[in-house]
Amino acid sequence: MAENSGSNKMWGGRFAGQPDAVMEAINASIDFDQRLAAEDIAGSKAHAAMLKAQGIISADDHAAIDAGLDAVAAEIETGTFAFSKKLEDIHMNVESRLAVLIGAPAGRLHTARSRNDQVATDFRLWVKKRCGFFDAVLAGLIDALLARAEDHAATVMPGFTHLQTAQPVTLGHHLMAYVEMFGRDRRRFQDAVARMDECPLGAAALAGTGFPIDRHMTATALGFAGPTRNSLDSVSDRDFALEFLAAAAICGSHLSRFAEEIVIWSTPQFGFVALSDAFSTGSSIMPQKRNPDAAELVRAKSGRVTGALITLLTVMKGLPLAYSKDMQEDKEAVFDAADTLDLMIAAMTGMVGDMRFNEKRMHAAASTGFSIATDLADWLVRALNIPFREAHHITGAAVALAERQGTGLERLKLEDLQGIHPGITADVFSVLSVEKSVRSRTSFGGTAPSQVKKQIAAARKRNARGWR
Ligand code: ARG
Repeated sequence: MAENSGSNKMWGGRFAGQPDAVMEAINASIDFDQRLAAEDIAGSKAHAAMLKAQGIISADDHAAIDAGLDAVAAEIETGTFAFSKKLEDIHMNVESRLAVLIGAPAGRLHTARSRNDQVATDFRLWVKKRCGFFDAVLAGLIDALLARAEDHAATVMPGFTHLQTAQPVTLGHHLMAYVEMFGRDRRRFQDAVARMDECPLGAAALAGTGFPIDRHMTATALGFAGPTRNSLDSVSDRDFALEFLAAAAICGSHLSRFAEEIVIWSTPQFGFVALSDAFSTGSSIMPQKRNPDAAELVRAKSGRVTGALITLLTVMKGLPLAYSKDMQEDKEAVFDAADTLDLMIAAMTGMVGDMRFNEKRMHAAASTGFSIATDLADWLVRALNIPFREAHHITGAAVALAERQGTGLERLKLEDLQGIHPGITADVFSVLSVEKSVRSRTSFGGTAPSQVKKQIAAARKRNARGWR
């Protein structure tokens, strides 16, 4: 195993020549998979302890390996470790440094193991941890939303369909819609963990091993619920990464929709919300501008996260069992998606705390566009026992009249309304305001402030319990 034999240390027995420079460039993953260093070392420590417990390596060799791995970990942590492209990936970088540090015993670490089960284990550990991280930061975003929703449980704004004024809702209710989305996102990350919680270590290259290993021991040591059950599947499965990316992409799309609303709401035309200097930028030419760049970038970055999901699905879809080098392409997509989503959630959490709502503008907007037309129709049904379809028709005539008069439904004269339907009484005005409209919508999950407050209280508890 001479260092300067001119061939690779790990498979030099079969190889005499050096790889082409392009081969090294396309083959090496160390530039990105060094992010798996901590997981790689944890996996090796668990594996070595098991080899010793099973009598596969001696206690002395284990002690040397274990101390050596700690030393490598310390070097990596303090930044003194020299990563080498020649050594292709994190697994060979660590093992080869271990050999330099402790000599011969290092050569026993790879007994009953392959880089195939090693990388599958490292990557699962990394993704699993990241799922927990996103579960936690989403809980933080939800808390930030709950605080704002609480303040605005009764603040009236227009609710939209087709981005056309539909019915008045409360701002608290609108914000709580995102709480529900981010709550489901939390569950998606948790669910992904539940399925990825099996340890591939010990599947070896693809077929398992003849050494008397204890896969339950390594699984437990690494915090998995148990070992995977099929060695071929163990080294070729990337479902866990795909599920992570799917959860991330869905979460990203929720963030993007919210970001889009912030962009719309902060236009001078809407004027519903203003972001402070902390979350806006100006224009170098137009002094009046205040641009919601952070929201726009959250919206845009969701594309990257979705792209990562498509990337890995595409990489995986044609691969025969078991491992193929294609699978090395899983990491950059996942790392980039994770970093991107992290930033998106942080920016959104910041914006949620930063947003200043213009309640007057929202109220004024809610009062235009005949947003209370449904309330008039509902009154006709309730007070006059008119079938809803007919009530809809009568209300349509009232809207047309108000439009002609250039006024709102609540300002129509009783005589005019009676001209449309003689049964209408002054009682109709008891439902014709945006406040009355939202207050009346007390159905479970409805926009009435009383309902919204209940949902906020329930969401607070759910968020504290992991949204279960
Ligand atoms: N760097 C590789 C990866 O990320 C590790 C596994 C390599 N295995 C192999 N048989 N070449 O997938």
